[in-house]
Amino acid sequence: MTHTLLAEPFGKMKLALLRSVAADPNPSVNRLRDVFQEEFGEGPSEEAHRLFRQEVLRRETARPATKREVQKTHSMRLIVADADPVSRRVTEKYLEILGHTAMFARDLEMAWDLWKRHRPHIVLVDWIGGGAPALELLGKIRGAEGSRYTYLMLMFEKRDPRAELAAREGGADEILVKPLVKEDLAARIHSGQRIVQIQSRDSLIFAMAKVAEARDKETTNHLERIRYYAVVLARAYGNLPNAPEKVDQQFLDNIFLTSCLHDIGKSGIPDRVLLKPGRLDKDEFEVMKTHCRIGYEALLDALRADPRADYLKMAAEIALSHHEKYDGTGYPEGKKGLEIPLAARVAALCDVYDALVSKRVHKDAFSHDRAREIVVQEGGKHFDPVLVEAFLTVERKFAEIAAAFHGRAQAKPVSPPAEEEE
Ligand SMILES: [Fe+2]
Ligand SMILES: [Fe+2]
Repeated sequence: MTHTLLAEPFGKMKLALLRSVAADPNPSVNRLRDVFQEEFGEGPSEEAHRLFRQEVLRRETARPATKREVQKTHSMRLIVADADPVSRRVTEKYLEILGHTAMFARDLEMAWDLWKRHRPHIVLVDWIGGGAPALELLGKIRGAEGSRYTYLMLMFEKRDPRAELAAREGGADEILVKPLVKEDLAARIHSGQRIVQIQSRDSLIFAMAKVAEARDKETTNHLERIRYYAVVLARAYGNLPNAPEKVDQQFLDNIFLTSCLHDIGKSGIPDRVLLKPGRLDKDEFEVMKTHCRIGYEALLDALRADPRADYLKMAAEIALSHHEKYDGTGYPEGKKGLEIPLAARVAALCDVYDALVSKRVHKDAFSHDRAREIVVQEGGKHFDPVLVEAFLTVERKFAEIAAAFHGRAQAKPVSPPAEEEE
């Protein structure tokens, strides 16, 4: 290394200056350029840039990671796509210090191959070759990732607002400017982890609901359907001018996530009741009714452990109140009208609609039209009349959702249905 440095065409002065800039607490290429301009009347050469990055790397890697840096992130597996060997080495060192394992690709083709084989959660891509190839890679990953989100970070040589915008539009989650700063890289990876964890949380919730449903297999894909109906109905309700409650995007996201948990408490119901083939007698029905409180208590415990998780509050409300009726004749509390939380009123209508259009042990599937009639008749009795009004504005979508998921053994919903332009 020393040999290379001494063989440089520029002299000791430039080398010393370059080293002093690299010794800054926050070394930057901009600063290097300014200092060179001032001292020598010209910017640093390509070679000077390289030496500068090597020097920064040497200094950075000489000090161990602070406790905070290590605590901040858990080990992640990443792909780094970068054509520049020095820059690859810098990134490798940083990631090593931060406790992550990385696979390195010299070009974007190799990166794509690695991604297909390993499907890591985080990918760092250099803005190689004017951007078009990097954008192509982003597009391919976004097209193929399915429900397993990939956090995409793009690295630029210098700030370039237009290119950064193109990168964002192309699917980039983060923009980094070289030379990378270790602390910054750690923070960005941490953000990526959080996003990926949220997504894992969503899948986990659905898996939990599926496990609870497995003992009570009345109809396939009921949980998939209910979350789609719920979003469509809640949105339609929010669009009605006479709706007494507001529905925002967070409400829609939460109901998509949690409506599938309405019967989670059934996992606490004994087999002799839950799996009984015929009708339940009075005592058995009383036991069955306790599934609302069992689910509610479990979700409330989770909410106490994480009070900021608003989706758990909604999940608990739905579990407790999805068998309440608008006229107050439901269970477990006999709540009436708007005392029943909106999410539970929505879940109740969707749950009943789905039961009507599905084949059950004791009945055939009703047609959509027959189910609609029953829903309408129950307005003001079982169901909130304003929700029934909302249902009538989107009833076609209900029929479509029912048709799309019925008879499909494995349906994988990935995200809430997007708002459609009418
Ligand atoms: Fe239930
Ligand atoms: Fe249900």
